[in-house]
Order: sequence, then structure tokens, then C-alpha cells
Amino acid sequence: MATLDEHPLSGATADAPLIRAYCGERSTHHPVWFMRQAGRSLPEYRALRTGTKMLDACLDPDLVTEITLQPVRRHGVDAAIFFSDIVVPLRLAGVGVDIVPGRGPVLEHPVRTAADVAALRERSLEAEALAPISAAVQQLTRELGRTPLIGFAGAPFTLAAYLVEGGPSKDHLAARTMMHAQPQVWAELMGWLAEVTGAFLHAQVRAGASAAQLFDSWAGTLSRADYIRYVAPYSRAALAPVRQLRIGDHSVPTVHFGVGTGHLLTAMHEVGVDVVGVDWRTPLDQAAAALPGVVLQGNIDPAMLAADWPVLREHAQQVLTAGRAAPAHVVNLGHGVPPETDPEVLTRLTGWLHEQ
Ligand code: CP3
Repeated sequence: MATLDEHPLSGATADAPLIRAYCGERSTHHPVWFMRQAGRSLPEYRALRTGTKMLDACLDPDLVTEITLQPVRRHGVDAAIFFSDIVVPLRLAGVGVDIVPGRGPVLEHPVRTAADVAALRERSLEAEALAPISAAVQQLTRELGRTPLIGFAGAPFTLAAYLVEGGPSKDHLAARTMMHAQPQVWAELMGWLAEVTGAFLHAQVRAGASAAQLFDSWAGTLSRADYIRYVAPYSRAALAPVRQLRIGDHSVPTVHFGVGTGHLLTAMHEVGVDVVGVDWRTPLDQAAAALPGVVLQGNIDPAMLAADWPVLREHAQQVLTAGRAAPAHVVNLGHGVPPETDPEVLTRLTGWLHEQ
């Protein structure tokens, strides 16, 4: 493993527009990347993935490197996001999980009882199991040069929403029942998830990622009180290993994002992150008023990517204008790139944003 003084954040990426913005410095260049920029919207991705299952692809450093680089080459975005999935650390810890195309993560056995959680807690994520992740990040960051790599992980609640339900669900009822009906079992499940997903994030940063994003995609289904009591402490714990790292004079910028989380923005900031990602529902000036002094990321409505260019451009202009209310703003979508998106629209949007 490279020593931390060879880390990109202490040299190659320290002055990248994305990193400067994450650290609160506004410049004339609007940094932009897109959640789910790597993946099904790209024909070159679909070609590479033929015959390889999603989770197998995530454990092949050559494939991960190529897939992560594809959108950077094509669109000229300001960051790469590590090609992986939030359930990869579960698979690496030996949990029976698969990603079913068109559906999402599915568990062999849902985790519902005290015995299920106790069995899960017998498992841990050792450094050895993370070797394919570290190898992919090292290879990738060599190729990326001055373009920062963003590492990511799923937050404990979003992972629990899959584990307890056994697969994708709409309102995550089973997980929300467990937190109230079996609070001790819930605490043990969330504590274990914080360790495993935190180790996954730490491995990426340690190996060369210049920033880290925690996705709590489904936290928006929680009340603010439940979020603060049953979820926030574990997201904080998942971020702790990365927040403790020092690379030269730098700490590693961290971003926290969820969907439908307008009522949770301050609580999500308070788990201890530098940047808050905002979905398309909350205008950025409103988010900035709730989070004074906090760097924001977002929030072009993914639905607009299929609109005619003048409609998309007008919307992007409004996002830039509203984003001026924050100390710095990294442009992104309000959620992931829809698979049916015409990739040329993303290239054009990136170019336009860079000219503003
Ligand atoms: O470009 C990037 O953003 C990096 C790659 C990335 C993937 N998953 C690749 C992927 C990231 C950051 C994720 C995170 C992820 N995975 C989240 C949080 C982000 C979000 O979208 O809210 C969640 C909730 C998951 C769980 C998950 N994995 C879902 C819901 C799906 C889609 C299932 C489907 O087929 O519709 C996946 C699979 C997945 N993860 C794909 C990709 C490219 C599609 C797999 C394929 O190509 O067949």
C-alpha cells in the first residue's frame, strides 16, 4: 500500500477544482460530476459488462479501472467516482447478497431476528478481503493523474433497509419496524454495518481516493427524530476512520447525500461532514439558508436530462444561481443518471457548465 505522503491529495489532486470547492473555495470554474456517471447510460459500459455479473465486475480491478475512467474520458467531468456498489463490503464480509438486474440488491437470508444479527456479527471485513478494492483504487488513481477519485460507501441505514427487508422495498417498513420494536437488535445491526461500510470507505481513501461520499439514499423515509436517534450515530461511526486520516495538511473532504432528505439536511450535516448533497426537491438557496457556511453539491433534476436542451440549460442555470448562496458549490444531479439517458446530453451539459 502506498504511504500517505504519496497520496494524490498531498500532490496531484490538492489543487483540483473539485477539492478546492469541497474545501469551501469558490472559483470561476464550476466543478461537476454525476452520481451514477459510470454505468448503463454508456454503450461502452454495456459492452464491457456483457457476461460478467455486477458484483464480479466490482471485484475485478482491471474492469473497475476501465469502467470508472469511461465517463471521465467521455464527458470531461471534474471527478471520477469509484465503480462499485454499496453492497460490495457485505459480499466481502461473506454475506449472501447478489444484485439482480432491473431489481437491485437481494439477500439470501433477510436479517430479522436477534439470532440473525448475532450470526452476522460473527463476520468481519478483514484488510485481506479488501485487497481487490485497494488494488483497483491504486491502479485507477495512477491513470487519473490530476483528476480526483471520489470513494463512496452506503450508510448503515440504507444497507439495513436492504438487509432487513431481504431486497429493495418502497418504504423500508421492516427496517423501520425493527428500530422501534427491537431497539437492541437494531443497535447491534447498525453497529456492525458502521464497521463494515466504514472499513470499505477507509480502504478506498487509504489507497488513493481524494474525497469520500456516504450515500444514505433511503434516509428520507425517516422522521427527523428517528434519524437522529436510530441512524445518525452509526453514520458518524462509519465516517470516523476516514475523518481521522491526515494526508499532509489535509483532512479528506467528506460528502453526505440522501434522497427526499429536505427535513434532514442539518442532521445529516451534523454527523460530521464537509459537504451536503441535496436532491432535486430542495432548491439550493433554501438548503444554504438551512446550512449556513456549508458547501453544497447538487441538484439538477435527473428528469431534465431527457428534456430539450434549452429546457435543461435554463434549469441548470437556475441551479447555478441558487448555488451561489452556498460558500462553494459542486454541480451534480439530484440523484443518479437514469440508465436511458443520452450520454451526449451529459457531455454537452458538462461543457456548458464549464463555460459559465
Ligand atoms: O457512477 C457511479 O455513481 C458509481 C457506481 C455506483 C453503483 N452503485 C453502480 C451500480 C454507485 C455509487 C452505487 C451506489 C448504490 N447502489 C446506491 C446509492 C446511490 C443511489 O443510487 O442512491 C444504491 C441504493 C445501490 C443499490 C443498487 N445497486 C441499486 C438500487 C441498483 C440498481 C438495480 C437495477 O438494475 O436497476 C444497483 C446495481 C448497480 N449499481 C448498477 C450499477 C452501474 C446496475 C448494474 C448493472 O449494470 O447491471
